[in-house]
Amino acid sequence: MSPSTIETIVSSIAPSATHTSSGQIPALFSLTGKTIAITGAGRGLGITLTSAVLEAGGHVACLDILPEPSTAEWQSLAKLSGQSGTTASYWKCDVTSEADVTRVLEEIAQAGEERSAPLNGIIACAGIQQKVLALEYEASDFERILRVNVVGAFISVKRAAKILKDKGAGGSIVLVASMSGQIANRGLTCTAYNASKAAVHQMCRSLAQEWGQYGIRVNTLSPGYIRTAMTDDLLAAEPGLEKAWMNGALLGRLGVPDDFKAPATFLLAEGSRFMTGADLRVDGGHCASA
Ligand SMILES: NC(=O)c1ccc[n+]([C@@H]2O[C@H](COP(=O)([O-])OP(=O)(O)OC[C@H]3O[C@@H](n4cnc5c(N)ncnc54)[C@H](O)[C@@H]3O)[C@@H](O)[C@H]2O)c1
Repeated sequence: MSPSTIETIVSSIAPSATHTSSGQIPALFSLTGKTIAITGAGRGLGITLTSAVLEAGGHVACLDILPEPSTAEWQSLAKLSGQSGTTASYWKCDVTSEADVTRVLEEIAQAGEERSAPLNGIIACAGIQQKVLALEYEASDFERILRVNVVGAFISVKRAAKILKDKGAGGSIVLVASMSGQIANRGLTCTAYNASKAAVHQMCRSLAQEWGQYGIRVNTLSPGYIRTAMTDDLLAAEPGLEKAWMNGALLGRLGVPDDFKAPATFLLAEGSRFMTGADLRVDGGHCASA
C-alpha cells in the first residue's frame, strides 16, 4: 500500500536525525528526528494535532477512513512541512482492520527509517460518537462505537508498540480519550461513547503497566467539549445543548482543536519522559465544578 498522491515531501532543511534531551525547554518539546503516526487525522482534532507535530519538528503520517483529508487544512499542512523540512503523508485506513493498520504502520516505519526519523509514537485519535437514549440503544450500534473507539484504538497502538519494541528505542503513545470517560455529560445521552472512553482510560493504565519495560510510555489525553464536525452534529440535532455545555465552561468558552496542540506535543516529547499510565485532562475546567 502506498500513501496517497497528496503526500508532501520536502527536505530542504533536513531535521537532525539525532534526538538529544538537553533538559532545555525547546528540546523537551521537540519532535525533531521523529516520525509520529496519528489516526483520525483526516479532519477535526486529529488534523490539528498533525500541525502540532510538524511545528515541533517531527514528521507525521495521518491515517483516516476518509478518502482524503480536509482540503484547506491539508494545504496549510503542506505549506508548513515545506517550511520546516519535514514530511506529512496521508493514508486511507480503517483502524478496525488490523491487517490494514499493520501494513500501513510498517510502511510508515520503513519510510521513517529511510529518512533517519524513526517512528517514535502514535496518537490514537480516530473516534465516533452517537447520541441515543440508553433505553433505545441498539446493541449493534453500541458494538459499532466500541469497535472503533476501543478496539480500533487498541489495534493502532498495539501495532505501533510492536514496531517500537522491535526497534528497542522506546516511544510515546497517546490515546485520545475524553472527559466523558470520567463523567456523564448532562443532556448528552451517549452511553456507548462514554463507556468507550472509560475503557480507553483503563486500557491506557493496562498498556502502561505492560510496556514500560520497553521504554514505551502510554498516556491518555482527555478533552472537554471541542467545536469539531463531531460536536457540530450533536449541536445541530439539539440547539439547547450549547447552553448546557457553557454552564460548565469555567473559562467562558468551549474548546477549539488548537487548545490541544501543546498538551499532545508534551505527551509525545521528552518533556513528559517520566509520565506513563496517566490522564491529561484539558477541559476548560468543566470537570472541576458540579
Ligand atoms: N469534539 C469533542 O468535543 C471531543 C471531546 C472529547 C474527545 N474527543 C475525541 O477526539 C477525537 C477526535 O474527535 P473530533 O471531534 O476531531 O471528531 P471528528 O469526527 O471531526 O474526527 C474523527 C476522525 O476519526 C475518523 N474515523 C472515524 N472512524 C474511523 C475508522 N474506523 N478508521 C479511521 N478513522 C476513523 C473520522 O473519519 C474523522 O476524521 C475522538 O476520539 C473523539 O472521541 C472529541
